[in-house]
Amino acid sequence: EELTIIRKFEHIEHCLKRQVEAHVTNQFENIHFVHTSLPEIDKDEIDLSVEFLGRKFDYPIMIAGMTGGTRGSQLAGKINKTLAKAAQELNIPMGVGSQRAMIRKPETWESYYVRDVAPDIFLVGNLGAPQFAETMPDRYGIEEALKAVETIQADALAIHMNPLQESVQPEGDTQYRGVLKALAELKSEFPYPIIAKETGAGVSMEVAIKLESIGIDAIDVGGLGGTSWSGVEYYRAKDERSRNLALKFWDWGIPTAISVVEVRYATDLPIIATGGMRDGIQIAKALALGANLAGVALPLLKPAVKGDVEAVIKILQRYIDELRNAMFLVGARNVEELRKVPLVITGFAREWLEQRVDLAEFLRVSRRK
Ligand code: FNR
Repeated sequence: EELTIIRKFEHIEHCLKRQVEAHVTNQFENIHFVHTSLPEIDKDEIDLSVEFLGRKFDYPIMIAGMTGGTRGSQLAGKINKTLAKAAQELNIPMGVGSQRAMIRKPETWESYYVRDVAPDIFLVGNLGAPQFAETMPDRYGIEEALKAVETIQADALAIHMNPLQESVQPEGDTQYRGVLKALAELKSEFPYPIIAKETGAGVSMEVAIKLESIGIDAIDVGGLGGTSWSGVEYYRAKDERSRNLALKFWDWGIPTAISVVEVRYATDLPIIATGGMRDGIQIAKALALGANLAGVALPLLKPAVKGDVEAVIKILQRYIDELRNAMFLVGARNVEELRKVPLVITGFAREWLEQRVDLAEFLRVSRRK
């Protein structure tokens, strides 16, 4: 138990102090809007609100789950409460980090609890997929899932899929057999929405189709191009062999923009585009490709550690300004209209997608779902 908690603390330390992002991009540079000289809208009338899992948010941005339960859980509590205050202020959704520590050590629950400062936000709990695996000792089931959501009065549960990170750490949970079946069982009796969430390697269309078939409510594609969990494990590695493995897989995965297209093409599920989202133009492109929200983690960590709510809001406000400006320049009054503007896909993204989807059909119709 202690190990889980220390590990989470080390993750935060490395994310704060080291270069943990992918060396490759999330491919949004290969997604292009076509500039509109006559937008035929007023910039002031642009409406950024969106609906997601039955709730309405003022902006299509989510604060992605990062922490909870870490050593000296004041730090985790401070991070979560700071993020939650910003989310409350902006009326946007937020996730907490893995609640595994809380399941093991219930006394850490307060580090995930934010309802005192954010009574109204759409809050998402978080557990790991391997904990539900067939061969996992003390595997999780509905009891743990309910505990995760209800202890912190969350509105939904994210189940994170992180085989990449687990595979490059010596103590990793590499049992993944039977996870899909376990999630199907959980879904059939669980009263809250479940979001299946990658953590930096992206979701393929094949996996998305499976998740949709068992009734999962939404997918966070958590694509390649932002925080690399293999990168984080590289810094944690204790010997050359582990360091080598983590380094080799630092940039493994499906870039975020490509993953959004795969999932939107193959399913009707709501999509959260997370992974290296670092400005509002990228967010606009993700929404235009058919995502419902864009998720941000790493850029918000530093101000959150300092407890600086205003600094968190300032970063998000910059994204919002850029998003609104991009929408003006393509003449989109709202997110629905943004889905219908023309897009051009070039380079690596085009080469990949031409082998995976009917790109012309996608650009014409599929992304409008
Ligand atoms: C994360 N992320 C994460 N995801 C998850 O499902 N459970 C977790 O416990 C954590 N923990 C965590 C800690 C820290 C410090 C960071 C930066 C991130 C992953 C996160 O939600 C997101 O998917 C990725 O970080 C990609 O987004 P960015 O960081 O590129 O914006």
